[in-house]
Amino acid sequence: MDRPIRDEIRAKRKDEHIQCFLASNSFSNNGFKDVVIQNNSLPELNFNDISVECTFLDREILFPLMINAVTGGTPYTYEINKNLAILSDKFNLPIAVGSQTIAMQNHEAVESFRIVRDINKSGIVISNLSAQCSYDEAERAINMVNADAIQLHLNVPQEMCMQEGDRSFKGVLKNINLLASRMKVPVIVKETGFGMSYETAKKLENIGISYIDIGGKGGTNFIEIENARNQEQSCELLSNWGIPTALSLLECRRLGKSMNIICSGGITNAEEIVKSLCMGANITAISGAILRTLLNNGYEAAENLLKQILHQTKVLMLLLGAGDIQSLKSVPYLLKGELRELYLGKFEV
Ligand SMILES: Cc1cc2nc3c(=O)[nH]c(=O)nc-3n(C[C@H](O)[C@H](O)[C@H](O)COP(=O)(O)O)c2cc1C
Repeated sequence: MDRPIRDEIRAKRKDEHIQCFLASNSFSNNGFKDVVIQNNSLPELNFNDISVECTFLDREILFPLMINAVTGGTPYTYEINKNLAILSDKFNLPIAVGSQTIAMQNHEAVESFRIVRDINKSGIVISNLSAQCSYDEAERAINMVNADAIQLHLNVPQEMCMQEGDRSFKGVLKNINLLASRMKVPVIVKETGFGMSYETAKKLENIGISYIDIGGKGGTNFIEIENARNQEQSCELLSNWGIPTALSLLECRRLGKSMNIICSGGITNAEEIVKSLCMGANITAISGAILRTLLNNGYEAAENLLKQILHQTKVLMLLLGAGDIQSLKSVPYLLKGELRELYLGKFEV
C-alpha cells in the first residue's frame, strides 16, 4: 500500500475512533470498588490547609492527574486537542498528545499536535508513538511539540482486532531499550486499557525504564471500539480482555520505588484517584471521562469536571487525615472481593 493511501486510512481511523468511543459503553470494572479506604474521625487538619500539589518529571504540577493521550491528525481532532490543551494549561496538568504516527509523513497533520504546545507553552507536554517506532520518528515527535517526555504505547490486543493492524510484535522490548538509551527526554512506556502485569513491568524495569503508565482495564475499551469499526471480523472474544486497573497497580507497585507509576484506565472521579495514590501511584491519568464530557457537554462541563475532582480529592484527603499527596501513601487501605482473591492468588500462594 503506498503512503498517501495509508495516511488517508489512518486519518479516517482517528475520527472513527472518536465516534465509536462516544457510541461505546466504555466503563467496566476497574477494580477500585474492591479497594476500601476508611474514615479518620480525628484528621487534625483544616480543610484550607490541604495541599494537592506534587511533582512529576521534576516539575511542580497542580494536582497528580494527567490528561492522557487521545488524538490528533485531522481537523476534527485539532479542535479536541485545542480544548484539552486549554484545560491542561489552565489547571497546570501534564498532557499527552495522541499517537503522532500520522504526522510522520503527512505534514498537514502536524498542526493538530503542535496546537497543544502552542497553547500550553510552559506546562508538561508529552509525545506519543508506538513502542515500535524508530529513533528518528521519536525524535521528530518530541521536537514537534517540544515535549518533556515521550510515551511509547503498547496495544497488542487492539492491533489484533484491527483489520489493518500490526501482526509483528517481536523485538519490541529491545526497541524500547534502544530508544530509551538514546532519547534526550524520559520515556514512559504505556498500556492503552489492557493493563500491565508485574512481569511486563519487571522487564521494563530491567532495561532501565523508570516511568510506566499501567493503562488498565475498566475504562475505554478499544476492543469494543474496534468491533464497532470492523463489522466483518468480530473480536467479541476479547471484549473483556485485560488486567483491571487496580490489580495492575498492585502488581506493578511491587517494583522498587524508583519506578514511577502513572495509574490510568477508567479513572473518572476523586475516589479512584485517592485510592490510586494510597496504593502507591505517583500520579493518575484520565482520557475517556474528560473526552466524553468535553464532546457531549462542552468545554465548560469539562472544566467543571476537573474542578469537582480537585475539590472532592481535597475532601477525601481531609477525611483520611492526609494533608498532602505524600501523606496519602501512608494511609492504610483494605482489599476485598475479586481484587483481593486475584492479587493474593498470584502472589501469596
Ligand atoms: C478516542 C481515544 C483515542 C486514543 N488514542 C490513543 C493514542 O493515540 N495513543 C495512546 O497511547 N493511547 C490512546 N488512547 C488510550 C488512552 O490514552 C488511555 O490509555 C485509555 O483510554 C485508558 O484510559 P481511560 O479509561 O481514562 O480512557 C486513546 C483513548 C481514546 C478514548
